[in-house]
Amino acid sequence: MKTFPIAACAACAGVLIAGTAIVQVKAGPELVKFPAGYSSAVRYGVVSNPKNKLYRELYTTKAAVDAVKAGKPIPSGTWVVMKSFKSKLDASGAPLKGADGHFVKDELSAYAVMERRAGWGKEYPDNLRNGEWEYQAFTPARAVNSKANIKGCFECHKPKDADDYLFSLGMMRSHK
Ligand code: HEC
Repeated sequence: MKTFPIAACAACAGVLIAGTAIVQVKAGPELVKFPAGYSSAVRYGVVSNPKNKLYRELYTTKAAVDAVKAGKPIPSGTWVVMKSFKSKLDASGAPLKGADGHFVKDELSAYAVMERRAGWGKEYPDNLRNGEWEYQAFTPARAVNSKANIKGCFECHKPKDADDYLFSLGMMRSHK
């Protein structure tokens, strides 16, 4: 397998194609791997989203929760994982709710991950850049979802700039 070392070197891709700005932007999400520390993550929130009928669990590192609670910036190296499940539906197609008021979760449908590291994000134009955050979408099997619209992640999270681009900063802050 002579080609193996090249194909296996996914981490080299950004270096090899760093020559052109356009490709560099596309290479952004490749920086985000499914977090190795996910199994020891803190679940800091749950969202039942009526727009897409998804039940979502939000996870991050203990260091990030501690920083936010202390009023400090979210540290470099932080990742946030949003685990989305379809919800069980009633006969009319509306999500069923459990005793906790949240949707009743059904099968796992996706993982969405955002990660920040010092120095990331420089190549994005100001009207798209989300600080140092990069985004990536993963399938339930934790493989990269190559069909995901990554630009859409930046566009929709951009207005949350005052909350460090997070919709759920308040949940992190109030996590017990
Ligand atoms: C149309 C708007 C929209 C788009 C597009 C979008 N998000 Fe979000 N994202 C949200 C909202 C709203 C939440 C809060 C959870 C909820 O209400 O369902 C959220 C939450 C998250 C969270 C949990 C942290 C937080 O901000 O609260 C992550 C991680 C995340 N999104 C990643 C992604 C990724 C990766 C993509 C692109 C593949 C993406 N998002 C695209 C609106 C969006």
